Amino acid sequence: MCSQNLIFTPLSGVDSLGPLQGDEKARGFVKPNKGGGKNRDMQKLVVLSGAGMSRESGLKTFREMGGLWEEYDVQEVASMEGWIKDPLLVLRFYNERRKQLLEAKPNRGHEILAAMEKDFDVKIVTQNVDNLHEKAGSSSVLHLHGELMKARSTGDPNLIYDIEGWELNEGMLCEKGFQLRPHIVWFGEAVPAIEEAAVLVSEADILVIVGTSLNVYPAAGLIAYAQQGIPIYLIDPNEVRVPYGLSVKEIRKEAGAGLAELQKLLTSA
Ligand code: APR
Repeated sequence: MCSQNLIFTPLSGVDSLGPLQGDEKARGFVKPNKGGGKNRDMQKLVVLSGAGMSRESGLKTFREMGGLWEEYDVQEVASMEGWIKDPLLVLRFYNERRKQLLEAKPNRGHEILAAMEKDFDVKIVTQNVDNLHEKAGSSSVLHLHGELMKARSTGDPNLIYDIEGWELNEGMLCEKGFQLRPHIVWFGEAVPAIEEAAVLVSEADILVIVGTSLNVYPAAGLIAYAQQGIPIYLIDPNEVRVPYGLSVKEIRKEAGAGLAELQKLLTSA
């Protein structure tokens, strides 16, 4: 199910980071500390995380046995076509996920990444729409595929609201009177944060890939922005096909145990 590479619409070119604009706020970007203050001398550790990162918090991944895409038709609940055809089905799907998220807690892996900010300039680029990295205390989190706890206007994409509780229902409107939709990047939609993500990966001294099957582009393609020769660690209990034949140091463990091993490795080095 869903093993082919699914594509969100890739954006070409890379632009430099500027002050926070409306749409950067819309992109859910926590402004990285650009070379100032305590981070300047720290190695830049960039993390690309996926659904496996939150598995130990009880949230399902998409493509594992019994994963979300076995239960739901991805085109029905995660595409504009699905939204147009049956918005109530889409709203129900994300309401269910939001209810689960409100009961979930950051796991050991999330906590280790937050703690590693003591020794590294940690930048997290996540495909996850949950807020468990932030809940664990990570200070620089870029969401590529949106945020579950936010809603967006269907009339003006710059109008983004925090969702109180787990319900986003039909009839909930933005200040301009348009229906609100989940602030999620659906298949076939652009990934506004991809340039910032590419810049972050291109500046990495160490790249850590954790809990993603690297099946979905352009996120999976970010690995190609890593500078040649930097160490790339891949943490996953299962085998993951790495694009572009890039060599990685595999830690074939779950996120919690794998990140504990990596932290020990990097801080004892
Ligand atoms: N720790 C680490 N990794 C794990 C764990 C765990 N405890 N459990 C499972 N995994 C791994 C799986 O082996 C798999 O490689 O997590 C990966 C999850 O892969 P996917 O389900 O494909 O999720 P992801 O790569 O994040 O999907 C990318 O696809 O459906 C879209 O928008 C959605 O952001 C998502 C994107």
